[in-house]
Amino acid sequence: MSNDAIVLLKDDHKQVRKVFRDFQSAGEDATERKGRLVEQMIELLTQHTYIENEVMYPRVRALLPELEDDVLESYEEHHVADVLVMELVGMKPDAERFDAKTTVLIENVRHHIDEEEQEWFPKVRDGLGRKVLQEIGAEMTAARKKAPRSPAQPSALKKTIDAVIS
Ligand SMILES: [Fe+2]
Ligand SMILES: [Fe+2]
Repeated sequence: MSNDAIVLLKDDHKQVRKVFRDFQSAGEDATERKGRLVEQMIELLTQHTYIENEVMYPRVRALLPELEDDVLESYEEHHVADVLVMELVGMKPDAERFDAKTTVLIENVRHHIDEEEQEWFPKVRDGLGRKVLQEIGAEMTAARKKAPRSPAQPSALKKTIDAVIS
């Protein structure tokens, strides 16, 4: 399996996109199924956010200061997603705003993922090269093992708060 940081992150994105598509094709009445899909979404997004916030963004920021603005924008986009995720955690799938909130989450995260893949990753690959990306990838694989799976866990909440106030 490749340890290239960008390959690993793209693989996560692919899984996230698949759950988004499943949610959007689930149909109006599939309340229970949509509830489970949102749980899956939240788990994937929480872990993905953790390894990006914990490893990818700080490493890139330190090694490629010219990409700092992109990293700061990413923190903000993740923050918006975190807020929606935390609200969804406390919401029942049959709640009036459940589908709407999930749709806004999907739209936001899709935009963010597209930006990472189309604009940011190419710059990062050019700037860092293969060897450093392998090192960062190995670090992310290690970080994933301690990643929270649900934002209700205090470490995930703390990350959100740290990202906002730091
Ligand atoms: Fe991201
Ligand atoms: Fe990402």
